[in-house]
Amino acid sequence: MTVKILAFCGSSRSASLNRKLLEIAASGATADGAEVTFIALADYRLPIYDADIELEHGVPEQVRALQELFATHDALLVASPEHNGGYTALLKNVLDWVSRPTAAGKPGLTLFAGKVAAVVSASPGPMGGVRATLGMRGVLEKLGAILIPQGFSLGSAHQAFAEHGGLADENTDAEVRRVGFSLVRVTKQLVTI
Ligand SMILES: Cc1cc2nc3c(=O)[nH]c(=O)nc-3n(C[C@H](O)[C@H](O)[C@H](O)COP(=O)(O)O)c2cc1C
Repeated sequence: MTVKILAFCGSSRSASLNRKLLEIAASGATADGAEVTFIALADYRLPIYDADIELEHGVPEQVRALQELFATHDALLVASPEHNGGYTALLKNVLDWVSRPTAAGKPGLTLFAGKVAAVVSASPGPMGGVRATLGMRGVLEKLGAILIPQGFSLGSAHQAFAEHGGLADENTDAEVRRVGFSLVRVTKQLVTI
């Protein structure tokens, strides 16, 4: 089977370090035959979740598009920047909207249940945004995703990338790629159970 991975990052910054790290982790997955779909969350221009908006106007069309993407992928690869010790509002807002009931009336949680997920993070700070990954893992787990133990938090990330786009330190680069590789391996094993 070809594992389909949905990859996204909680930063909308054009020079996002997390987006760069996401690409490296994803390359470990594509090297193992997976198909990776990258989406830019800011492209969906969602309002901050508000139950009154949902009641009055329904779930926005952009959320329907995102729900369709979640429904048609086997695994999630997330890069979670750290803002004040937690994951970003952009990331959480998108997940909150996606978790709403689908157009077919199914619980939004069915879009996460049994999906395999991995989380990485990058920060110029020494801890690499590890607190954001712990929080994000908890959110995804609560939604029903199966988190693999592999992940990576890249500290001093503003100095870590080489000109070719990979990480300057070969061992670190390999470890980040292994996150994508492990995501594919675990997904394949789970679907054959
Ligand atoms: C509001 C705000 C809060 C931040 N808080 C943290 C933090 O708690 N820990 C940390 O390591 N970096 C923190 N940072 C720095 C971000 O990690 C840094 O801007 C990072 O590059 C953002 O990710 P990006 O490069 O993918 O856009 C913060 C940045 C902002 C704007």
